[in-house]
Amino acid sequence: MKSVEIKTLNRKYKVLIENNITGGIIYHIKENFSNFNNLIVILNDKLYGIYGERINKILCTSFKLNTIIINDGEKYKNIDTLKYIYQQLLKMNIHRNDVILSFGGGVTGDIAGFAAATFNRGIKLIQYPTTIIAQVDSSIGGKTGINFKNTKNIIGCFYQPHLIVTDPELLKTLDENEIINGFGEIIKYGLVFDYQIIDDILNISGNYKNDENRLFKIIENADFENIIYKCIKIKAEIVEKDEFDLNERQFLNFGHTIGHALEKTIGFDNINHGQAVSLGILCALDMSENLGYLKRDFKKDILALYDILKLPKFISKISIKKIMKSLKYDKKFTSSKNRFILLKGLNKPVIYNNLNENIVKNSIINNMLT
Ligand code: NAD
Ligand code: GLY
Repeated sequence: MKSVEIKTLNRKYKVLIENNITGGIIYHIKENFSNFNNLIVILNDKLYGIYGERINKILCTSFKLNTIIINDGEKYKNIDTLKYIYQQLLKMNIHRNDVILSFGGGVTGDIAGFAAATFNRGIKLIQYPTTIIAQVDSSIGGKTGINFKNTKNIIGCFYQPHLIVTDPELLKTLDENEIINGFGEIIKYGLVFDYQIIDDILNISGNYKNDENRLFKIIENADFENIIYKCIKIKAEIVEKDEFDLNERQFLNFGHTIGHALEKTIGFDNINHGQAVSLGILCALDMSENLGYLKRDFKKDILALYDILKLPKFISKISIKKIMKSLKYDKKFTSSKNRFILLKGLNKPVIYNNLNENIVKNSIINNMLT
């Protein structure tokens, strides 16, 4: 089993990573938590359908188990779902020493994390990520929250989990679309921090280049666990250096500024987070090239990678005016200045303030609206 330790201001916790760790999860919960009465599993209806029975069977032999089932989907990452979770926690008479286990992707992790942070002023929290995005990114580092009035993650707080359990085996039930999403975030780690990650993916995918099912084959390959591990290590280091997102943690937002604006403009139902981010990455590469930071052909290589990983390269029927308006809601911006994460070279991220609006606009027109 691989393990990564994360030291934050209030807490030191571990990420445990192993294929099939789920079978032996009781041991790890008992090792990390003592003296609690209730274990509350929060998961969505889709995951309950796939894993509910198995999870219940494993956990109920050792713990007093409560389950809260929420609706599946980004559009339910909202105040109504949060209210429902609070109501259930009250009904179950949950106390501070009880443990919430969030089983799911980034949506469940963000909302269950926020509930854990705020109910009773804080309940113990296990993040149990089941998508690629959640395993390499959202479960780590304590950002929790909900969307409000169509604005992403605008209500939230930092609340570090007490344990993260990562089982790459769970990824095998993902839809192809969700695997594509996850690759968007993995490519981000490769471009911003460690290009070896992209080479690792290319090495694995080389065996299945023309195979329609190549994405499933990549994640089923034994070496994929190591790619997940590398991303987790990078995120853990960043969180330790800048827990509250004031400096280098913002590098993780590479591609997200325009990605979030795109999600806001066309609606959460119409584009997935990872796919919006992959388009945002193309814009960020274009802006970096325009500033002379990256050589002109760099993006061409990345587009070839996008083909292999079935990542989107453009989106049609969208108004540039609306995206520019949505951009203004980005949490990194101030009322007078924009802020983008760009690359000053491969694996050399930089925070760029007050970027010329035409460069921004053209990058969107050239990379999305063709
Ligand atoms: P998600 O949680 O909606 O999961 C995507 C879909 O996959 C859902 O339909 C879900 O039910 C399904 N699913 C999850 N695990 C599955 C499995 N093992 N098998 C089959 N289906 C499965 O979305 P996501 O892509 O995981 O996360 C996106 C969310 O994460 C966004 O809300 C984003 O804002 C947030 N996020 C947060 C952070 C952070 O630091 N907190 C970082 C990145 C993203
Ligand atoms: N996903 C961005 C962050 O955790 O800061």
